[in-house]
Amino acid sequence: MEHIWMSVLGLIFILTIAVLLLPVAKRVNFPHTVLLAIVGIALGAVIEFAGTRLSIGFIGDLVRSLSGFHITADMVMFVFLPTLVFESALSIDVRRLMEDIGPILFLAVIGLLISTFVVALPLHWATGTGLLVCLLLGCIVSATDPVAVVALFKELGAPKRLTILVEGESLFNDATAIVLFGILLMNIVSGVEVGVLSGIWQFLKVFVGGVLVGYVIALAFSWVIGRLRKFTLVCITLTIVLAYLAFIVAEHYLHVSGVMAVVTAGLVIGSRGRVAIPPEEFHALHEVWGQLGFWAISVIFILVGLAVPALLAAIDGALLIGLMVVILTATLARVGVIYGLLPLVSRLGLAHHVSSAYSTVMVWGGLRGAVSLALVLIIVENDAIAAETRQFLAVLVTGFVLFTLFVQATTIRKVMSWLGLDELAPRDRAIRDRAMARTLTDVSADVARMLETEEIESGSARALLSSYERRAAAATETASAVNGMSTEDWITVGLATLVAEEKHRYLEQFGQGFIPPRVLRELVVRVEDIADALKAEGVEGYAAAVAKGLGFSRFFRIAMRLQRRIGLTGPLTYRMALRFQFLFAMRSVLDDLLTAELAAVRTLVGEVAGDGVDELLRERLEAVGLKLAAIRLQYPEYAQAMERRHFGRVAMRLEKANYAELHDHAIISQDIHENLLEDIDARSRGIETLPKLDLGLEPRNLIAKVSVLSELSGDRILGIARLLKPYLAVPDETVCRKGDAGDALYFVSNGSLDVDVGETPVQLGSGDFFGEIALLAEMPRTATVRSIGFSELLILKRDDFLPFLEANPDLKERIERVAAERFDRAAGN
Ligand code: CMP
Repeated sequence: MEHIWMSVLGLIFILTIAVLLLPVAKRVNFPHTVLLAIVGIALGAVIEFAGTRLSIGFIGDLVRSLSGFHITADMVMFVFLPTLVFESALSIDVRRLMEDIGPILFLAVIGLLISTFVVALPLHWATGTGLLVCLLLGCIVSATDPVAVVALFKELGAPKRLTILVEGESLFNDATAIVLFGILLMNIVSGVEVGVLSGIWQFLKVFVGGVLVGYVIALAFSWVIGRLRKFTLVCITLTIVLAYLAFIVAEHYLHVSGVMAVVTAGLVIGSRGRVAIPPEEFHALHEVWGQLGFWAISVIFILVGLAVPALLAAIDGALLIGLMVVILTATLARVGVIYGLLPLVSRLGLAHHVSSAYSTVMVWGGLRGAVSLALVLIIVENDAIAAETRQFLAVLVTGFVLFTLFVQATTIRKVMSWLGLDELAPRDRAIRDRAMARTLTDVSADVARMLETEEIESGSARALLSSYERRAAAATETASAVNGMSTEDWITVGLATLVAEEKHRYLEQFGQGFIPPRVLRELVVRVEDIADALKAEGVEGYAAAVAKGLGFSRFFRIAMRLQRRIGLTGPLTYRMALRFQFLFAMRSVLDDLLTAELAAVRTLVGEVAGDGVDELLRERLEAVGLKLAAIRLQYPEYAQAMERRHFGRVAMRLEKANYAELHDHAIISQDIHENLLEDIDARSRGIETLPKLDLGLEPRNLIAKVSVLSELSGDRILGIARLLKPYLAVPDETVCRKGDAGDALYFVSNGSLDVDVGETPVQLGSGDFFGEIALLAEMPRTATVRSIGFSELLILKRDDFLPFLEANPDLKERIERVAAERFDRAAGN
């Protein structure tokens, strides 16, 4: 290329074609990438056959700008690949990906390796080309690009897990292919043959090394991004820097897989970023990456298209046979992976069963796209490879990609309708009918009212009204016909609508600054679990997921154990505060749903099912309220401070909205508006600081609340304080179980517990103790003791028990007396 302006001209020409083809593709309902390739090929033909004749003026410059557009292997590698990979990693739902990471990696890595060999061996045998080159080709054509299938799956409402399986498989098989590609290419260029074992070792090192590099760099970036979340432009730019920096550090400095580093970085930002930056900003970030990805794909497709005519001109009989072999074996390999490996994965219990209709779609929808083309561009532009090899790879890969685009992509919809996958499921159809009936009835009433108030009498307006009325009547009749939906089905539909709205509201509240990121993450995870359970098991699944979602999280339990084992209170304090905020946010959102959304749901699902939904929602609200009350009872000061802060924020938000309205209507000037906002900001700083939660678990404080202990003399208390360990029992926790060996005695400082004796349990409260019988009589526990709410206890270990009694004879007598009474009562029962 002679001048830089020519490169720029070439680039904007390519981008113009690419974007203008998008509306065309929509209009004629044809895959965009296929159109890109067709136009690229047409342009390539023009350049190839008429290039010199068109060399005057602007048109000539355009053609020359394309024909001279030179792209190097490094450019594809360092400029295009990071964008392509980061963008697809960013849009994956990481939490779900992680749930199925086992089967996904299995499918992606093993599937890709199998497919590489299935393609390479017959090709080597049929064309006599070197095995390494055939393996290289095998790995390039095995990287699937599921954009088309995923889009179709989303349209059809295919099970979310299946979509994730396909998306995840493709993300990791792209990455695996690129890693393998790098290793094979290095061996071809350097001419060194590698053994299988050293190849596997090399692969693992590069693969895992890349993951680690990406993870570490992305963690650092997400920390910075979280801190700068108010500056959208900065955050977006930092993610771009991250993608390229991770790639370069991994690839160039550490010689591990750059692509794996970028995949990992994309996943980290996709999961942490989603809750570190407000939703609108995250949306903006997504849009920018969508744009970058679109550019990368457009340029790659057109560039490859441009090269096709020259490649076709060079095609001969041997290459044609090679192409046939690749098409046949790559398709067979895909069939093998989907019909062979996938059932194996589900049989091992690692994934749900995938129906054969979906499997067929996965085979036929396994297109090859930008990644395969980018890899082949790297080869074509690499002078270190023999010209003949380059041509062999370029023709076969491009030919195969074009085959999948022209034949598979254009027929996938047909295949789906042939398999009956494009029809609405009965439930969706029923929802559609009801929604239509409702809307049309409302609209015809509105139109009638409009005609009346405007006093319109024209015939055409009347005709409009009667057409609406007719359609409304017809829709109502269809909707009320027997549609195979039971009341429970309708309840499920209603709950699903509410759950979706619930998630939306959490994100909204987070965006407005009411919910901190960590709390949002917990809320979103729980609500998604509920949605999944609802989809898979209906109302029953919903109830189970709701109950599970209100239990203590794994982290809470770990924090509790840390406190009990080594006396570390920090993590437990943190978790308790998080739990309070979590329940608080959940209750306020559920409350809103009950008042604002239920009516709309009721009209959709009908009165009877509406009542069912109403009841379930109320039950849930009540359960959340109870859990919240338990914490509030235990830590009233903290709860009040949190509530003050929350309502203070709500009030300020309303205040701001009011001022904004006055300003919009030009009632107050810009200056006054800013002055008022400053005033609010100054006040908000006062309420922003989070109140500190104090679990109150210091032994001295707890002892003070147990009268039998606090009555002891000062130096005795000092001695006892060393032996007693604080213990926080959570609601419903069984502190000791009948029949177990007794290892400790408990004093109750605060809270209440049930002792399960006979029909009515005995209740213990502040100042009581329990667990003494098993220690004194050296026998198993005589009863089960359960904490009702939170209870603060002091534990005295078995080994310290006797010395403790010896040192405190008054207490000894008292405890023995109580034990004897209780024991007798138990014997009398
Ligand atoms: P232990 O048998 O070690 O464990 C269960 C405890 O429940 C027991 O000690 C007593 O402390 C307590 N307990 C048993 N029966 C009664 C009762 N009737 N009233 C109050 N507490 C009891």
